[in-house]
Amino acid sequence: AMDSGVARIPITNWEAYEQELQERIGIDQKLMTRITNQAKKDPKTVVFAEADHFKILKAAQIVKEQRIANPILLGNRERIQAIIDENNMELEGVRIIDPYEENEKREEYAHLLYDKRKRKGLTFFDAQRLMRDRNYFGSMMLNTGEADALISGLTREYSKTIVPALQVVGVEEGINKVAGMYIILNKKEPYFFADTTVNVNPNSDELVDIIGLTARAVRFFDTEPRIAMLSYSNFGSVKGVVPDKTAEAVQKAKLKYPDLLIDGEMQANTAINRNLLREHYPFSELAEKGANTLIFPTLSAGNIAYKLLQEIGGAEAIGPVLMGMRKPVHILQLGSSIREIVNMIAIAVVDAQNNNNQAI
Ligand code: ACO
Repeated sequence: AMDSGVARIPITNWEAYEQELQERIGIDQKLMTRITNQAKKDPKTVVFAEADHFKILKAAQIVKEQRIANPILLGNRERIQAIIDENNMELEGVRIIDPYEENEKREEYAHLLYDKRKRKGLTFFDAQRLMRDRNYFGSMMLNTGEADALISGLTREYSKTIVPALQVVGVEEGINKVAGMYIILNKKEPYFFADTTVNVNPNSDELVDIIGLTARAVRFFDTEPRIAMLSYSNFGSVKGVVPDKTAEAVQKAKLKYPDLLIDGEMQANTAINRNLLREHYPFSELAEKGANTLIFPTLSAGNIAYKLLQEIGGAEAIGPVLMGMRKPVHILQLGSSIREIVNMIAIAVVDAQNNNNQAI
């Protein structure tokens, strides 16, 4: 099942050239190749909330050409058309939806939003106003089945973009908190990091939720999770807020998910370097293979760790994968590259293929 769909793409294609270069440099692309091939088997409709942007349009063109997804472009029609024309982009047949033109749809969606949130302080007037916001409009397209997945973000702060999705699409049944994961590709096996994007300072119960979501998401990527709960301490070597809450989270997670390979709390190098584990902590369940999934004690730690690996660690970071939503919504980080956007679209399509009111 492992193939590198690379050779079949002509070298005149810049994406393919970039990919070939990456492979020569040594980043293992097997995981993303598998996802992309899976997406192509049954491309889904993906709505782009921030379509009036060159990178999004370029990514939309690529996924259309490669039959990874059927894009819908949301935004100001003239602005989108101007970018397409200026850059000679081939986006024929791709739907552009300008929420400002869609009077009937806005009204319909406003009613749906009002029904959903009238007991949370929302007036109908507010609901009508919010439907001019592309993140609300796009989330409603997902809810009503007009689109299978939503990609947003890129130009606005993550925290502002996620709230409409949380309010309109919401979390999967039985899930308390959504969380964000990054896949770190490098020369060795892929690593999975969470929570890198959402929960600022999770307590031990919230960490258990993050562990559960992340274990499932790692399996979504056909990998068996070996989870380390990270801290600045190793197995009780120091007392403090972070060592205590992370140790507690491990205890609770072992009870809640008895089949899960998880240990901690531990430092990051202990988690990754199995020789260290074997030498100093041979009792650890992770001593045999080391961890491939890292759960961070705070958002600061997770967010800073992946950004440093991306900028100076020579790794490719795929994400942020939003876990625990009722339907596939993924919010790009500010300034994502075209390559990162295309990767997230492929993941969103596979997410949509598997979706049954339960996303990644
Ligand atoms: N999971 C599920 N639902 C949530 C979560 C969560 N983690 N957090 C908030 N919600 C829900 C709330 O319950 C609320 O629902 P309701 O209105 O139906 O009752 C709704 O979302 C909105 O909540 P607010 O109270 O308006 O927002 P809150 O103050 O809780 O903020 C937010 C939520 C925006 C996610 C916040 O936790 C945050 O800012 N996180 C950090 C985001 C960030 O800056 N990330 C780093 C950068 S991302 C990057 O680098 C790619």
